[in-house]
Amino acid sequence: MKNLESREDIELLVNSFYSKVVKDEVIGFFFKEVVKVNWDLHLPKMYSFWESILFGQMSYKGNPMAIHFPINESTAMEKKHFDRWLSLWKETISENFEGENASMAITKSENIAKLMSYKMGMARKI
Ligand code: HEM
Repeated sequence: MKNLESREDIELLVNSFYSKVVKDEVIGFFFKEVVKVNWDLHLPKMYSFWESILFGQMSYKGNPMAIHFPINESTAMEKKHFDRWLSLWKETISENFEGENASMAITKSENIAKLMSYKMGMARKI
């Protein structure tokens, strides 16, 4: 098992994660039907997003919360979806990596998912 320490590591992690996501019966449809994700654009954004979070590279410029509001408007993003997202993310990390950055990738994802889930829930009440 290796440490999560380079852009190549992040690429492997993100690619493995989304190959699980697209096959997943609980959240796969968000990426194939609700949004027809352009993977050539989305994957590099996700590499930069995680590189910025884990290595402080600041290569990601975007607003992850804002991207999810229109998705949530067309199909509610509920707790069960966030739970599945997180369990696939954690599973992918623990299959490939260990160490401080691997733990940080888990903690950060839990915090962001919690906030995102809350915001999506609030947006549906307005
Ligand atoms: C139920 C859970 C989630 C679903 C269904 C979901 C779905 C999506 C979809 C479909 C896109 C692509 C939008 C597009 O191509 O236009 C996207 C983008 C993105 N998601 Fe999620 N997401 C979820 C949770 C999360 C979480 C927990 C995080 C962060 C830890 C996250 C971070 C991002 C980022 C950074 C982008 C790219 C934003 C950009 O284009 O700048 N997502 N998400």
